[in-house]
Amino acid sequence: MSTVRTAGNTSTLPITRGRLMDFPDDPIACMRQLHAEHGDLAALEEDGQRIVFAFGSQWNQHVLTDEKSFVSRFFSLRGSRTSAQRRLTSGLLSMNGAEHKANRRMVMEPFQKKVIAGYFDNICSLTSQMLDDWRVGEVRNIHEDMTQYMLRVTSSILFGFDVPELSFRIGEMIDHWVHLNHQTGMGALRTDANLSDGYERLLEHAEELEAAIRQMIDLRRSDCEQSTDVLSLLIRANEQDGGILSDEKLIGNVALLFGAAHLTTAHTLTWTLLLLAQHPSIMRELHQEISSEISGALPTVAEARELPLMERVVKESMRVLPASGYLHRNVADSAQLGPLQLSRGTPVVFSQYITHHLPELYPDPDTFQPDRWLTISPSPYAYLPFGAGPRMCIGAPMAMMILNTALPAILKRYRLSVVPGSEISGRIVSSMLGPVTDVPMAISPPDGQFRAVPVMGNIQSLVNLPEVPASHAVEIRRAA
Ligand code: HEM
Repeated sequence: MSTVRTAGNTSTLPITRGRLMDFPDDPIACMRQLHAEHGDLAALEEDGQRIVFAFGSQWNQHVLTDEKSFVSRFFSLRGSRTSAQRRLTSGLLSMNGAEHKANRRMVMEPFQKKVIAGYFDNICSLTSQMLDDWRVGEVRNIHEDMTQYMLRVTSSILFGFDVPELSFRIGEMIDHWVHLNHQTGMGALRTDANLSDGYERLLEHAEELEAAIRQMIDLRRSDCEQSTDVLSLLIRANEQDGGILSDEKLIGNVALLFGAAHLTTAHTLTWTLLLLAQHPSIMRELHQEISSEISGALPTVAEARELPLMERVVKESMRVLPASGYLHRNVADSAQLGPLQLSRGTPVVFSQYITHHLPELYPDPDTFQPDRWLTISPSPYAYLPFGAGPRMCIGAPMAMMILNTALPAILKRYRLSVVPGSEISGRIVSSMLGPVTDVPMAISPPDGQFRAVPVMGNIQSLVNLPEVPASHAVEIRRAA
């Protein structure tokens, strides 16, 4: 990468010449380097094509609130007008302006606080099922467990508990489809679909997925008066509202809801369990809070709301390792961002990970310190794990309910400790920051013997984990 200086001009534009693919290849390394070189506004340019990066609360606010200049085009590969791929990618994140506003109002209905309280018992029952399967003494890949758990939770809440096989199958298909979109679309930057090998495979899979979602919609249409899953609520609300959601948009929003809910929440669960296991003094304090405030095996709705340290832990976990690592908008027409004149279609990236690690916003930013939340109250554009502005996550209250139920339940029943010497690495894939390795943890009784262990992998470059004294490491290896 080399910085560009305009010829015959003393001013320096914050542009680096390099490979555009450096960004999807390693988003965090690329964004860190651009931020170090240029500060809060930067661009990466190759052969006249640019990706622009806007970091920090001021630019986040600018890009997120100026909806006329910066539009959302989450999916780069839309397929032909009549394709299943086009319908599946037609949810909220592909809509803008008045259409987005009207559809968002409709899609938000099943996610109001009073409605999601109805999902609580189901979340509890799926949490218990998972924990009943775990055995003291075994080592589990917690990354895999949290992904499977969220696959079950999301498919049941969206599609209902009465048809678990079909719900689960659709969940798995959507997951695979999200993955193919990322692989083929190169992290939402490539639109020249014909050049890419996996495109045909993506279109075929989209057809199969659409057929399965249609089967579910037909089933719910026939019995939606009784059912309380999100899809039935959406069908009912839509009918009462004069049917503003066409079938195409219903299919797109169902796929989007699943994709948006599943991995983001699973990654947040995994990161929080890992951070707690590696911070024994915080874990000890949290264990006391959970033991004294929760009477049964699982928290009640009221108990889950009354865990102040748990709340700070989750906030801090989502600051230091935000499951949504970056997002982007595209320039609608032409736009000016600081000294940069941007042409139509230019992608503008903003990053929760980089913003949450700015030392001017969060002193000692790479360190996990839940108690910092006793004294700070950042603006919505300085702390934005769920985004901010007119497209802020509509599933945030539901995600918080899942986190505040599952985490205390897991930590009350078991002590989780990382297997010493494990290689744990994280990366942003498809805009989500999650583990790309196993996260192996030993399951013990809740005996309060919390200890950090040495770990390898790039996790240490994403967040500061406490140093484990060498003597302690030897002791742990002997005991293992
Ligand atoms: C920890 C879990 C979650 C995280 C970190 C997260 C993060 C985000 C972020 C950052 C955005 C903003 C996107 C943008 O500005 O382009 C967003 C939007 C969205 N999220 Fe979430 N989300 C989570 C859970 C959920 C859940 C559980 C659901 C639904 C069941 C959901 C549904 C949505 C939808 C539909 C949007 C699009 C809103 C719009 O375009 O108006 N999310 N989410």
